[in-house]
Amino acid sequence: MITRRVREARVYCEIVPHTTPVADIVARTPKGVILVGKKVDDVWRKTGIPVIAPTDGQIDLHRFLFEVAGCEQSWTPANIVAEQVAAIKATVGDGRVLCALSGGVDSAVTAALIQRAVGSQLTCVFVDHGLLRAGEVDQVRHDFVAATGVDLVFRDESDRFLTALAGVTDPEQKRKIIGATFIRVFEDAAREIAAEKGVDFLAQGTIYPDVVESAGAIKAHHNVGGLPDDLNFKLIEPLYYLFKYEVRAVGLELGLPEAMVWRHPFPGPGLGVRVVGALTRERLDVLRGADAIVREEIAANGLDRKIWQFPVILLADVRSTGVQDDKRTYGYPVVLRPITSEDAMTADWYRLRYDVVERIANRITSECPQINRVVLDVTSKPPATIEWE
Ligand code: XMP
Repeated sequence: MITRRVREARVYCEIVPHTTPVADIVARTPKGVILVGKKVDDVWRKTGIPVIAPTDGQIDLHRFLFEVAGCEQSWTPANIVAEQVAAIKATVGDGRVLCALSGGVDSAVTAALIQRAVGSQLTCVFVDHGLLRAGEVDQVRHDFVAATGVDLVFRDESDRFLTALAGVTDPEQKRKIIGATFIRVFEDAAREIAAEKGVDFLAQGTIYPDVVESAGAIKAHHNVGGLPDDLNFKLIEPLYYLFKYEVRAVGLELGLPEAMVWRHPFPGPGLGVRVVGALTRERLDVLRGADAIVREEIAANGLDRKIWQFPVILLADVRSTGVQDDKRTYGYPVVLRPITSEDAMTADWYRLRYDVVERIANRITSECPQINRVVLDVTSKPPATIEWE
């Protein structure tokens, strides 16, 4: 995508729908315009703004940006932080901000930016739904707080979630229950914090691809939706114009732990959709053990940034026979699903080296006594989805 190529050249660039009137674009005084899927016509020539259209042939982007349009390479992580901090200060004033953390990159960077801008006027809420991976709760409660100094309200709601989910096997039903329970828990926490400290703004980690995808109606993005009327907060979305790689660069600039900044995409319903079958604490713990081994091994082999996402799935309703220490076992299988992708819309399976597969399988079957079989998923998307549920 050309916007991203321009940004990578450290020049700010925004996507504007092709239906936008030329006068509106001119009013924003851009240094240059790149027309995608259109030819440069007289209307554009008359504006006096440097315009180029890739349909006119291959464009020399660097020449256009720096020689023709006279752009400066000012779109750097440090400048993005400085600009956003100033914008947040101007918007928030002496108001109070609430931000829900998920353990993921976007909400962490959102909170860190707001903390940098307005410090103790921010309160973060982190709900443990019991469906996170090993170490993730501590990462937020301790490492993130140590790196940023945010005021964190932590809620262990795993009992509430697991009670609501008891016996549920249908994936969409699980998603609905997790989503609805999350909203209820978040509203309770928000109400308490609003009563105690006051809340004017709700911060959300919406990022640019969410905006572009929602505009194109490819998929609805799944951030916190409408809140009830008594929680009448104004929305702030400081990552609204940032691509994921920029969000990561900003996170590093703000001193967030690398493990958080480089975390793979992780579904909102978490391990809830990676246990195929009903959820129990025991099953989640079994999966957590196997998942932690996989993450350790891909990091140790320098693969964590080559692999885009690596779901590990517990087939909780399947048992297969095994033999260990001369005894017959009847254990769970787990599925390894290493994935490469750009945008999750299509994906391919990552060709994991056999020695790494072997080591993962050996470690899982020896360190997780309930698991006696490890299988590798070699299906692309389509026809399979990335997650099993
Ligand atoms: P699928 O399985 O549809 O997944 O190929 C595409 C991407 O979306 C993630 N995913 C979810 N993310 N809530 C989320 O926030 C969900 O319910 C959900 N389901 C799938 C998945 O991990 C992959 O990155």
